[in-house]
Amino acid sequence: MRIAIIGAGNMGGAIARALAKCDTLSDATIVCTAKTQATLDRLHSQQPRLHLTLDNREAATDADIVLLAVKPWLMREVVEQLRPALDLERQIIISVAAGISLDDLATMLGCEQATIFRLIPNTAIEVMSSMTFVCSRGATAEQQQTVMQIFNQTGCAMLVTEDKIEAGTALASCGIAFAMRYIRAAGEAGVELGFRAAEAHKIVEYTVKGAAELLLHTQSHPETEIDKVTTAGGITIRGLNELEHTGFTSAVIRGHKACIKR
Ligand SMILES: NC(=O)c1ccc[n+]([C@@H]2O[C@H](COP(=O)([O-])OP(=O)(O)OC[C@H]3O[C@@H](n4cnc5c(N)ncnc54)[C@H](OP(=O)(O)O)[C@@H]3O)[C@@H](O)[C@H]2O)c1
Repeated sequence: MRIAIIGAGNMGGAIARALAKCDTLSDATIVCTAKTQATLDRLHSQQPRLHLTLDNREAATDADIVLLAVKPWLMREVVEQLRPALDLERQIIISVAAGISLDDLATMLGCEQATIFRLIPNTAIEVMSSMTFVCSRGATAEQQQTVMQIFNQTGCAMLVTEDKIEAGTALASCGIAFAMRYIRAAGEAGVELGFRAAEAHKIVEYTVKGAAELLLHTQSHPETEIDKVTTAGGITIRGLNELEHTGFTSAVIRGHKACIKR
């Protein structure tokens, strides 16, 4: 398999490095492009397995998957430039650009029948723990399976209809920043309670990781796990209620909803 990543900057580069670690892609050729040689040199130092070129058409020629990761406002220009090198009867086109719909992409490609995917990973793809949303247009079940199988190796991939992409972005791509903010806040509490900053952060990071792993592995509900640590009249319920008095649940819900453009 040959995968071309057009625009291997922050997101494209993170995807490229993650794909290079996927077991089922160990024989695949992953070609990355960028605007400048400096970006390609940086990528080479991070993952020597990647093939690199400044020539988008060269990268896309004979690729099975062409993943577009340039900024949204450059997409039209880059697609126009790439178009002669694309074989849309055979290739899968994937875009990670925020706010560009599947229909927009089909129009840019000038091909109603093209197989197009939109992909919304989050930054945890860097450590193979991305929550990735996938939607498609004109894809067969087999092509969907191929894309899902690849991105399930970089964390968890969820196939959704396109109308869920914005909500998914709010929950997982913006949500990772919310989780970071919780970690920072809890770390600050830890310092006030007497731990050194580095210790406090490690404690909170493992606590949050443990909470997520517990739910993922047991399929348990958060309230069930909360019940296990709250004794009647105890300190945990006192702390939880204090969080709620200051509007914790409401703040989280409002924060996520604020990420949706309405
Ligand atoms: N799904 C998500 O959760 C998520 C999150 C963030 C971003 N995104 C999307 O990812 C895309 C990239 O964002 P980013 O933050 O990764 O931006 P970025 O770091 O600026 O990366 C864009 C890359 O495109 C390259 N580039 C620019 N013009 C090019 C051209 N003509 N041909 C080939 N490469 C070209 C740049 O090369 P140089 O480095 O050499 O200038 C850069 O490496 C955006 O569309 C954004 O909406 C998605």
